[in-house]
Amino acid sequence: MKITLAHSSALLKPDFVFGVATASFQIEGAADSREACIWDTFCAEPGRIKDGSNGLIACDHIAHWQEDVELIAALGVDAYRFSIAWGRVIKADGSINQAGLSFYLQLLDALNKRNIKAFVTLYHWDLPQYLQDNGGWLNRSTAYKFAEYADIVSRAFGDRVYSYATLNEPFCSAYLSYEAGIHAPGVQNRQQGRQVAHHLLLAHGLAMPILQKNAPQALNGIVLNFSPCHAASNDAADIRAADMADQYHNQWYLQPLMEGCYPALLQQLPAAEQPQIKDGDMAIIAQPLDFLGVNYYTRTVYRANNKGWFSDVPPTTPPLTDMGWEIYPQGLTEILLAIHKRYKLPPVYITENGAAVPDTVHNGQVHDTQRVKYFEQHLQATEAAINAGMRIDGYFAWSLMDNFEWAEGYAKRFGIVYVDYATQQRTLKDSAIALRDVFAGRKK
Ligand code: FCB
Repeated sequence: MKITLAHSSALLKPDFVFGVATASFQIEGAADSREACIWDTFCAEPGRIKDGSNGLIACDHIAHWQEDVELIAALGVDAYRFSIAWGRVIKADGSINQAGLSFYLQLLDALNKRNIKAFVTLYHWDLPQYLQDNGGWLNRSTAYKFAEYADIVSRAFGDRVYSYATLNEPFCSAYLSYEAGIHAPGVQNRQQGRQVAHHLLLAHGLAMPILQKNAPQALNGIVLNFSPCHAASNDAADIRAADMADQYHNQWYLQPLMEGCYPALLQQLPAAEQPQIKDGDMAIIAQPLDFLGVNYYTRTVYRANNKGWFSDVPPTTPPLTDMGWEIYPQGLTEILLAIHKRYKLPPVYITENGAAVPDTVHNGQVHDTQRVKYFEQHLQATEAAINAGMRIDGYFAWSLMDNFEWAEGYAKRFGIVYVDYATQQRTLKDSAIALRDVFAGRKK
């Protein structure tokens, strides 16, 4: 199975960056050599994770990192996006975990040696439990703690990092964690969700100038997830619902960064559900960015509900991925061009894109045909946005390897590399081979 791109495709130009992505809690394991985080606590609560699993071992990447770096290098990627576990670097008493820091330094050195650009995410959801015990993201002081953490890491890493992202998908750490209640810490409270979103954005804004000072050579920015919001019907009420959902889930994070204000929908929330915003916060949040990371998986359909709000309509028409997400590649082009038109964006990278497939290994092979097709279509959708005049500098496949898929546990496989969790054996899936061939076919 091959992935075919146009001969003249902008994606095949020498400086377009191709990479693979992971996140600390999802792959690292070695939980005993770091502080506990909110996901450890969440996993220990009955019923939170579908298969009852946790992140204690995961892909045991801390033990297998050298083999994993070889794997990444063998794919022929230009870049590797991974995240730092805050609690592997800073201990509960505020002191530095030197062994934890050295782990990441070794990893960075190994990547640099192989000419693989390191895209470091500082926060991919694994807040240390010691900070949660002090209020977590509901406590404004966590934003300042994050800035200190960013300072420590970026000073220690020196010039080894090609790009820093402050946060990965604050939508998930705010909405899924504090409103939908399906991510750690599993709260359902709108005011808290909006407050957490605000403190996350504040954390980003406080960290940005620190990164720019300590790592002026790096591309410093943030990673947001987007899903185009479509109306379930042509009814004015559904169209309005889809627009509200877009403001609430997409623009809520991007507009403050770009324009220093929240969407107009904020004014429609009852005062008791609005976040507390201090004077000067919005200016702190709206720091100039060197890049914007866009994560894309699917679109979402909305209808108006009887509370004057929006409800999502779960997809039923195939093709759906193993997550039950609709495969809708044109949505990637659509959302990219929509934000490109609306804002003056910095260079964009697609920092995550991929599909869960119920893979099985036969004779050392994994024929993940649906994933190969998914990548082909979404690479073409990325190319379409570039052809329409947008600057997109790179694309990262989610994920390098199967891993702990949050509330879904290990049952959902997003990797281009198959992981046998009993043996920790890694096997290239057909999608890894197809992507490797695309990367290798470029004129560098
Ligand atoms: C994104 C997350 C990533 C992974 C994918 C499937 O929301 O950033 O960690 O779980 O979804």
